[in-house]
Amino acid sequence: MRQTRCPLVEALKRYAAKGFTPFHTPGHLQGRAAPPMLRRWWGRSVFAADLTELPGLDDLHNPSGVIREAEGLAAKLAGAEHAFFLVNGSTAGIQAMLIAAAGPGERVVLPRTVHRSVAAALVLSGAEPVFLPVRWLADFEIPLPPPPAAYRIALKEHDGVRAVFAVYPDYYGVAVDLPAVALEAQSRDIPLLVDAAHGVLFGRHPDMPPAAAGCGADAAVESVHKRAGALTQAAWLLLQGNRLSGARVRSALRLITTSSPSYLLLASLDAARRHLAAAGGSLCRRIIEVANYARAELSRCPGVRVLSAVGASYRLDPTRLVLNFRAAGISGFAAARVMHRSGVAAEMADFHNVVLLLLPRHRVQEIKKLVRAVQAALTQPRERVKAPRFPQAPPVRLCPREAWLAPSRTVPIAEAIGRVSAEIVAPAPPGVPVLLPGEEVSEEAVAYLDAVRAAGAAVHGAQDPELKTLRVVR
Ligand SMILES: Cc1ncc(COP(=O)(O)O)c(C=O)c1O
Repeated sequence: MRQTRCPLVEALKRYAAKGFTPFHTPGHLQGRAAPPMLRRWWGRSVFAADLTELPGLDDLHNPSGVIREAEGLAAKLAGAEHAFFLVNGSTAGIQAMLIAAAGPGERVVLPRTVHRSVAAALVLSGAEPVFLPVRWLADFEIPLPPPPAAYRIALKEHDGVRAVFAVYPDYYGVAVDLPAVALEAQSRDIPLLVDAAHGVLFGRHPDMPPAAAGCGADAAVESVHKRAGALTQAAWLLLQGNRLSGARVRSALRLITTSSPSYLLLASLDAARRHLAAAGGSLCRRIIEVANYARAELSRCPGVRVLSAVGASYRLDPTRLVLNFRAAGISGFAAARVMHRSGVAAEMADFHNVVLLLLPRHRVQEIKKLVRAVQAALTQPRERVKAPRFPQAPPVRLCPREAWLAPSRTVPIAEAIGRVSAEIVAPAPPGVPVLLPGEEVSEEAVAYLDAVRAAGAAVHGAQDPELKTLRVVR
């Protein structure tokens, strides 16, 4: 089948045109029984396409028809052997590949600065994490993905490793030398699993870093919704080779995925794949041109540094902007707030930086508005930015699953220091846990969380959203 086809979208359109009288879920009667305010806002066609596993529309959990064809086209475009469509974001793909790769007590080598979906995957699978040391990029004060050498050292030091995990790229667009990481893993016949949630545009233009699948990843997950126009939550998992069993991945996905997958999300994956196949290269070229223009304009703003290089072993996603406000004496959080008041919404802020995504169809006028918003941020009075570093990984005293399931109690946060965390606590975005179940709660981690909350940032995962207390293993 050719990439110009869109089998799932075509099947939905065909089905909707047949005029069946529905006596089945979803219960909005293809829009007639939908809440009127939504029908007026969204129109009838959204509801007409919100179908379910009906004859001719296949079954996500056991695809043999149009979903299988659509997944086949996505795999072919990515140069992978299989693609699995996901309706719960990269989160579901990350969990499925880790559950498939490692069971209770089996080791996984991974960066400490992973997304909280990885922490959840460790709880679900029971695997034992071997965390790589956290390194920072000076000035920008951002944690870097571990270089290939860190994987080599960990793999020499630890036996029984069942999977190697990499993030490619991270939230700041920093992409490690993934072929070199793949070599470390695969020379020991260990599968490389890649969180490429932010990497769906990679490999689509010569100026983009190569795609995870093309770098030798055995499995890679891409959030198509993040950068390629699919609806929020739509993602795919790509698989190649036989180090990770496709049957096990499929079973793991059945375990964690809804039995009512949204066909709107699935159709958006099919359509996004078609669009990427037809225009991925030219879309990336246009984004890179606008990004280069933005970099040139922003680097003329005194007090702002634009991340432009990281050093050997790393490349940068050219379609992301990381603006550092350190020299201006204001925090990234404060800068993002002022920018928001000027009508510009950023992707993320941290103590020193603001991260912005450039997307297909961003226009020069919008970059000019961004520059004015940054200039407005720069007029803010200087502040003393209290900015602790992301903490080093404390000792792991229990596997995340054991700690999650162990009897626990709630204590005031200061009393939690030195005890074993029973919960996942992650400032979001970027959703990287400062505390993981099974880790000793360090003074450094508590101080970091304090500073994040004082800066007004959201913190996810904790039982007590105000973080006055923490759940620790009894
Ligand atoms: C690095 C990373 N991995 C995984 C995820 C989860 O992706 P999703 O939101 O598609 O579930 C995110 C979300 O922001 C992320 O930043």
